[in-house]
Amino acid sequence: MQHKKLTIPDIRNRKNSTPIAELTAYDYPWAKVADTAGIDVVLVGDSLGMVVLGYPDTVSVTMEEMIHHTKAVVRGVERALVITDMPFGSYNSSIPAAINNATRMLKEGRADAVKIEGGVSMAATVAAIVNAGIPVQGHIGLTPQTATSLGGFKVQGKSAQAAKQLLDDAKAMEDAGCFSIVLEAIPAPLAERITRSVAIPTIGIGAGPDCDGQVLVIHDLVGLYDRFTPKFVKQYATINEPILEALRQYKAEVENRTFPTEAHSFTMKSEELDKLLQLY
Ligand code: KIV
Repeated sequence: MQHKKLTIPDIRNRKNSTPIAELTAYDYPWAKVADTAGIDVVLVGDSLGMVVLGYPDTVSVTMEEMIHHTKAVVRGVERALVITDMPFGSYNSSIPAAINNATRMLKEGRADAVKIEGGVSMAATVAAIVNAGIPVQGHIGLTPQTATSLGGFKVQGKSAQAAKQLLDDAKAMEDAGCFSIVLEAIPAPLAERITRSVAIPTIGIGAGPDCDGQVLVIHDLVGLYDRFTPKFVKQYATINEPILEALRQYKAEVENRTFPTEAHSFTMKSEELDKLLQLY
């Protein structure tokens, strides 16, 4: 069945309504599974660098890698809105460079929108990208691209002063024209407060139950990333185990010649085989 593609207004209109289910995907098959499951927003996160490309962090991810994976995701999606992450260094050097790179995400990657990490300090850049006609999802709180400056992968906004800064960041993203904001790793009562203070949907990841939606990294959700699982992740499946078992069985069957059988082989006419044998 053909599904109607979700739009930016559809996502905006989910403020204080049915919560938005956002999930990452990085290639065609996973995007297709996410879309078939009815996920509303597929995010090509720069977590790509860690869970797919094996980098130690997201800082190394390039524009070319993001565009390559965004194209694959877009080919797997019919209904969901596709947002792609602006990688570190693609929007922080200058506003013209940021607009140019965000434009590439839509023109070459065919994403519907981009996501940008940062609050007050990124507001002018975000406003310029939005004014160039490119929808932006903001991302505040724990911003993985600058985790080192934040003291590591730590919960943010725990003091009243830090919480106030995050409220200001959220407001700045809203004023800059973002259509939604990701709130990562902040106390639940602060996320609830931010959600009440802005008119755009908030999407939580480690931000409690009161946001307008939630986002997770798909590899965390299905148990495919072996290095680290944050406290805020709920693992709904552990698919690495059945995959491992299948691969071990395949190896054993190759070694003991029980795979392939006739069922997985092709035949040829016996007269053709006889002719071939006469050629020797
Ligand atoms: O890169 C990513 O996957 C993200 C989500 C965790 C929000 O930014």
